Amino acid sequence: PNQPPVVFHWIPVLGSAVSYGMDPYKFFEDNRKKFGDVFTFVLLGRKMTVALGPKGNDFILNAKLSDVSAEDAYHHLTTPVFGKGVVYDCPNHRLMEQKKFAKSALTVQAFRTYVPAIVEEARKYWLKSPQFFGGDSNRASGNAHLLTAMPELTIFTASRTLQGKQIRAKFDESFADLYHDLDRGFTPLHFVFPNIPIPATFRRDAAQKKVSDTYMELIRERRQSGDFSEMDIINTFLKEAIYKDGVRMTDREIANMQIGILMGGQHTSAATSTWALLHIGADPKLQEALYREQIEVCGEDLPELTYENLQSMPLLNATIRETLRMHMPLHSLMRKVRNNLTIEGTHYVVPKGNYVMAAPGVPMIDSNYFTDPMTFRPSRWDEVKNEIKVDANADKATISKGASSPYLPFGAGRHRCIGEQFAFVQLGTILTMFIREFTWTLPEGRGVPKPDYTSMVTLPSEPTNIIWTRRQI
Ligand code: HEM
Repeated sequence: PNQPPVVFHWIPVLGSAVSYGMDPYKFFEDNRKKFGDVFTFVLLGRKMTVALGPKGNDFILNAKLSDVSAEDAYHHLTTPVFGKGVVYDCPNHRLMEQKKFAKSALTVQAFRTYVPAIVEEARKYWLKSPQFFGGDSNRASGNAHLLTAMPELTIFTASRTLQGKQIRAKFDESFADLYHDLDRGFTPLHFVFPNIPIPATFRRDAAQKKVSDTYMELIRERRQSGDFSEMDIINTFLKEAIYKDGVRMTDREIANMQIGILMGGQHTSAATSTWALLHIGADPKLQEALYREQIEVCGEDLPELTYENLQSMPLLNATIRETLRMHMPLHSLMRKVRNNLTIEGTHYVVPKGNYVMAAPGVPMIDSNYFTDPMTFRPSRWDEVKNEIKVDANADKATISKGASSPYLPFGAGRHRCIGEQFAFVQLGTILTMFIREFTWTLPEGRGVPKPDYTSMVTLPSEPTNIIWTRRQI
């Protein structure tokens, strides 16, 4: 059978790891020019077949369960961090039900309680953090390092809302360090060498056990007290986590699932808020327009934000969408091939044992779909239908749903993200709090930083500082 063309490389096992790893989008583009949308490259001994464009996304993200496997591609990395029995350490039908349990907690009713909780966390954070007021509530201006501040604010707000006050309180004690240890065991290096004997790996394993034990303790406490009043995901699992075949999730699995959920939303959301704040900082007109939108929607005196307010702020939501378009946090989604796979519309067969790779970020910055794609312009989403030039072959394309859309920041198919609505609530509330409280700019002479692809998500390269001034209302 006809295999896809292979990207030339000098060093057998290493393959194209360096050029792919440094700038995957340039690597994809260069090879697309040579080979078209489908080609194979060697990445540290693995054969990766890339299929670009909306058709490639559809082919990979909607491939049959019997043909491709996400767990075979990801579990080496994720199981030591999340723990056993959940996500990619169980059969796919179990993951599908775990996602359904988690999703059933993410209701509008819950979001209504999350918005004020995130507002409160943001205020608390500013007051305490040396990036902002550092305990001195009279401070009128300062310099904040976003890649310190935004991961902290993200995990405080996500734990407070998704896992309740008790878990949030633990982040003021040892939990932040333990999650940090989990993070440092969740790197591209660990993707290739899951158990590489270095201190980061040992600390990851110790932290996994401690974090999981902490969730189990809380689960026991809640069972004993019978208090399930918080609208968090832990309680949803305690009430609902019985699989269709009658098997109950164990407390250990429920605990491990909490790690998976928090980690799933952590890097992605923190990266997105950081990029958004940088773009807004670089564009004073946008910043002012976002402030005017606050006043128009909420009123001159800017009362406490509500979930409903967020739904009435098109510019805010378009700013988040535009950030995800230009800075899709996950540049590569992978599956391992379980049966020889013919790529639709080609003569190529991807052999069993290869990996397939989708890169939904590619069409999102392709001028065939988005006019002037490297310009950050939230207003393009005002007239979505005119703006997105849908490919003739992708006639079913809709924004954000269906794998043939050129815009898939949350993926598609059975592995699609369950956190989209939550992410918009969290990001929308955090950005609103910034817009109401501060004006900010990037340091003199600096534009929005270039992307850095060397960690698990696409982050802005340093420096990621902003200069903030408190707004006088
Ligand atoms: C899956 C993106 C936030 C939980 C995914 C996938 C993408 C994605 C692209 C598909 C992965 C694949 O096909 O291999 C994002 C982005 C986020 C975000 C851009 C924020 C801006 C969140 C949050 C949560 C979450 C906040 C939790 C509340 C999950 C889960 C999956 C997933 C459970 C399913 C994994 C699977 O089925 O294999 N996400 N995500 N994500 N995400 Fe998110």
